[in-house]
Formats: sequence, structure tokens, C-alpha cells
Amino acid sequence: MLRNGAVGAASPSKKNGSAARRPVRVWCDGCYDMVHYGHSNQLRQARAMGDYLIVGVHTDEEISKHKGPPVFTEEERYKMVKAIKWVDEIVPGAPYVTTLETLDKYNCDFCVHGDDITLTADGKDTYEEVKNAGRYRECKRTQGVSTTDLVGRMLLMTKAHHSNIAEDMDYRTHADNLGKCPRGHSPWTGVSQFLQTSQKIIQFASGKEPQPGDTIIYVAGAFDLFHVGHVDFLEKVHQMAKQPYIIAGLHFDQEVNLYKGKNYPIMNVHERTLSVLACRVSICPESSCYDWGIA
Ligand code: CTP
Repeated sequence: MLRNGAVGAASPSKKNGSAARRPVRVWCDGCYDMVHYGHSNQLRQARAMGDYLIVGVHTDEEISKHKGPPVFTEEERYKMVKAIKWVDEIVPGAPYVTTLETLDKYNCDFCVHGDDITLTADGKDTYEEVKNAGRYRECKRTQGVSTTDLVGRMLLMTKAHHSNIAEDMDYRTHADNLGKCPRGHSPWTGVSQFLQTSQKIIQFASGKEPQPGDTIIYVAGAFDLFHVGHVDFLEKVHQMAKQPYIIAGLHFDQEVNLYKGKNYPIMNVHERTLSVLACRVSICPESSCYDWGIA
């Protein structure tokens, strides 16, 4: 088992002030391949259901058997999950089928999975046993992102996934001019990507302000398809000061595209922001032209 320290161990008095309450231990498991903000959002929701979150990550062999080979190796996937700030502990090589034995082994009260079904190679629900025992909880699966979708973006070579900041600003114009809808659709009845992402950014952000004595370190980049290289880099930056406060500047999609070409970045600026925010060592992403952001 690999323990994280930064999120903080479970505190019995955390939620109801009573020193006697036993901390609620939550279990999640999965492949966590090409870790994206959908995974981070699942772990964020799961952590909020208890006090201590343990995440089991499957081996390459298990994933290949049930689903097909993963893009990233197990060592890379372990590192990525460990870097997510809501994770207290990871269990490398967790079994693909979640059993009561596993939950008991790690003293977990229940397990949490997104509201989609996961099947074994022979078509069985991997959570059947824990569901029957009433030790299964569901959280909302994050729409619009998946490992398959990200691989698709890379192969298709289109730029349709890029964020159109002008569109977002146009939405703001809509909002400021209630009743005047130049395109004939209401911003209040449609599903606004702008509102959804800003809400998620607030949920992902720590809201921590720099403290007296903090060393403020600025880093900038694309942080596209947030991977182990980015985690290594941020960890090194974090070690550069006793009390670091890291501000990450993220370039807009058009800017990244100018210097990287093709259909880069693969993730748009909103998605890249969420990836950076989910990492335990980064405190505050900002962008030079984020007038709606959280600098
Ligand atoms: N998950 C989620 N939202 C997404 C993608 C995954 O909430 N957009 C959740 C899954 O429901 C699961 C956990 O993340 O509880 C781990 O998922 P994983 O085993 O990695 O597989 P997939 O669900 O297939 O994820 P993906 O489609 O991205 O490969």
C-alpha cells in the first residue's frame, strides 16, 4: 500500500465534532488510464462521501484480460492516481472484480463507482457482490471525457475540442442581455459548457491564499494530457522551497496550437486547468487572459 500524506489522514472529529466517531473509509477502484478530470472528479466525489479514500488500481495484465491493453503502464497509472489530491492511499494491483474480501481487507465501509456499469470479459458486473451486500455507492460520471475520447481526439486530428474563448465571452454577453438571444436559443435553457466548467473549477480549486512566509513560484505551460512528466516536474518545483505556493499559468488553446501545430492541445484550456488543479502539488492555476478564471 502506498500512502499519501498531503490530504490528511482521517480525523474522527472532522465532520460532527465528536471524537468518538469512527472515520468512514471509502474504496474506489479502476484502470485510471490516461488519467483525466473525469477520474479526478469521481475521486473527489468519493472522498466527500467519507473521511479516508483508498484507490485500488488494476494491473496491465488484468486490464488487458477484461478490456484491452491500457495506454499507460501500471507504474505510471499508480503514480498518477497517487498525485490526485483527494486520494489518501493507493493499492497497486487491485483485483478487477470488487469483492467484500477486498473491502474488509482495507477496512473500507463501501466502494464508490461512477454511474456506468463495468463488466468482466465474460459479461459479469464487477460490483455485483458489493452491490448485493449494500456496500456500493454511486457518484455521477463526468460527461464529455473518457480515455477513448482522448485517444479519438489524437487520431482524428480535428480541432473541434479546442475551447473557443470568444464563444464563452459570447455566452457572457447573452447572460448580460437577458431576453436578447441573437442566435435564437436561450442561454438559460440550454446546457452551458461555460457554466459547467466554471462550477467544476470552483469544486477542484483549493481556494488557498498564499500565507506569510510562502515562497511564490510561477510556472507556465500547456499541461496538455496531464501525465507523469508533469507530476515529476511539479514535485521538483514543490521541493524548491520550504513553504512553496505554486501558481501555474496555462496557455490558451490557440497559443499552444501556434507553437505545437497539428491539433494540439488535445485537451482544451478548461480541461487542462482541471487536470492541474486536481494535482496535489499545484495550488492555483491562472492564465494571463482568464478574466473569468480563478487566479
Ligand atoms: N469515471 C467517471 N467519469 C468519467 C470516466 C470515468 O466518473 N468520465 C469513473 C468511472 O465510473 C470509475 C472510475 O472513474 O468509477 C475509474 O474508471 P476506469 O476504471 O478508469 O474506466 P472507465 O470508466 O472506462 O474510464 P474511461 O472511460 O475514461 O476509460
